[in-house]
Amino acid sequence: RKGLSKMSKVRVVIDGTEVNGQKGMTILETAKQMGVDIPTLCHIPGLTPSGSCRICVVEAEGSARLVGSCHTPIAEGMVIHTRSPRVLTARKAIVELLFAGHTGPCVKDGVVEACQLHVIAADLEVGPPRFPVGRPRFYPVENISPYVRRDLSKCILCYRCIKACSEIAGKNVYSMAYRGFSSKVVVDCDVPLNKEACKDCGICIDYCPTSALTSPGGTKERKQIEIEKNRAQASIGNQEHEMLLERLIAAQRELGYLSEEAMSAAAR
Ligand code: FES
Repeated sequence: RKGLSKMSKVRVVIDGTEVNGQKGMTILETAKQMGVDIPTLCHIPGLTPSGSCRICVVEAEGSARLVGSCHTPIAEGMVIHTRSPRVLTARKAIVELLFAGHTGPCVKDGVVEACQLHVIAADLEVGPPRFPVGRPRFYPVENISPYVRRDLSKCILCYRCIKACSEIAGKNVYSMAYRGFSSKVVVDCDVPLNKEACKDCGICIDYCPTSALTSPGGTKERKQIEIEKNRAQASIGNQEHEMLLERLIAAQRELGYLSEEAMSAAAR
């Protein structure tokens, strides 16, 4: 057992400090263990990594390319730099590219709020985007579902809603469709999200790193409004039913039978 635990240890150097990780751990997990913060957007701990946003890139000595820390496992002797000038330049460019497809301010529950992308941009001191909008990002806000409000102009195609819905909620409401600049998170064959397709678990809202998916005025409030409305309608229906019966009984007493006219009058 001693031999096995020795074998599973992996020695790496992160930002000049030597650290022992376990075989199978990613660079991100190892860095986190030693208190080194690497920004992430598409990553959800414990779920399948999509490696789609690239914001978590780091420099691994000997590798010509920067590597995504959320999905790259550590290897014995790796020397990693998480905030070298090359890494920071790349992260800034990635944020600018993401901003090119993330238009307007982020609004949650009617309040303008910095999303995770804005927070990372502020940390990296990224200025206004230099890149023009390269894909059709001006989608109308979709507010059909009583549970989820979708503003795809804010979507950064990070796959988090898709993974949270399938791997946590066990549903497959969302998927990625189209290609390149036209890529889009869709419901079924790109139809609006309605309450038949999606119930009120709200997991996709919790995991969306921007304001692309938000609660339309609070899920609980909306549900309560619907319940109250149904109750009110049911009670009006009951009252009308009772009134109709009373009039029919009165007509029966008076005439001894129910004539056509009496029934029409009662219905009116
Ligand atoms: Fe690693 Fe997105 S957080 S690729």
